Amino acid sequence: MRHYLSLKDIDSLNDWVAEARDLKKNPSSSKELGRDKTIGLLFFNNSLRTRLSTQKAAMNLGMDVIVMNFGSEGWSLEYTDGTIMDQGAAEHVKEAAQVVSQYCDIIGIRAFSSLINKEDDEAELVLSNFAKYASVPVVNMESSVGHPLQALADAITISEHSMAQKPKVVLSWAPHPKALPQAVANSFVEMMQMQEADFIITHPEGYDLNPEITKNCSIEHDQEKALRNADFVYVKNWSSYSSYGKVLTENPEWMITKEKLGNAKFMHCLPVRRNVVVEDAVLDSEHSLVIEQANNRTFAAQVVLKKILEEN
Ligand code: CP
Repeated sequence: MRHYLSLKDIDSLNDWVAEARDLKKNPSSSKELGRDKTIGLLFFNNSLRTRLSTQKAAMNLGMDVIVMNFGSEGWSLEYTDGTIMDQGAAEHVKEAAQVVSQYCDIIGIRAFSSLINKEDDEAELVLSNFAKYASVPVVNMESSVGHPLQALADAITISEHSMAQKPKVVLSWAPHPKALPQAVANSFVEMMQMQEADFIITHPEGYDLNPEITKNCSIEHDQEKALRNADFVYVKNWSSYSSYGKVLTENPEWMITKEKLGNAKFMHCLPVRRNVVVEDAVLDSEHSLVIEQANNRTFAAQVVLKKILEEN
């Protein structure tokens, strides 16, 4: 059974990107593939893009779609084996995952990190337990650790706009008033490691991502230096990994401005806080790819669902 839990489930990024770009030209080309199949999308957290683009992708493949805001409407779940369930949780994930599998041929799960307990977050309790106990394939719609649908859409966007064989791509931390997960940044790093690029990560001291993910990526604490001659600047806030889940600084000097961006293309997964993460002049310019990234979410999801339907 093929799941899509992380970018490791992609056998060839180039092939998947090429197939997604073909689907973009003819979204209904595989409309028969999903006939009489149902996808269930379970949201433990809010969403705009993931929710709508994954539904759209499934509909392009002829699937029926069930969406549930599990976080606010489902029973509170227990994840530990052997627990005496006399506290808050009303249902064990063992039953929940098997029950959803009776109604759905594919299950999508969105469950963010708590940013409280690193061990639990890294175990991806919700996603991994659904993958363990469901009898159908599971798709990661953003977990504690990664957002592989976003990263695949970002790969599509970069391929569409890249002029160079080996573009310079910078992942820059930006300020934000709230503590945000590292998932988007993690998956972007993993995706960049899967392709030819001059890739640099820039962030203030204390904001190193998990070194098991960044491995031997170049890290530069001088943002101006990192951004020099960039072709693509991917901007994202994340909370500290070492001081887990903490906001160590909101230094506005890390906001991306038109001047800092230069001739580069601006990328962000959205939602974005204007004039905190990036100034209006960037988002409202032709340098911004954010709407195209959001559009490519449909074709990233569609290629993932298509591969799953073809193999199951
Ligand atoms: N980029 C992204 O995943 O957007 P949503 O949180 O709105 O789904």
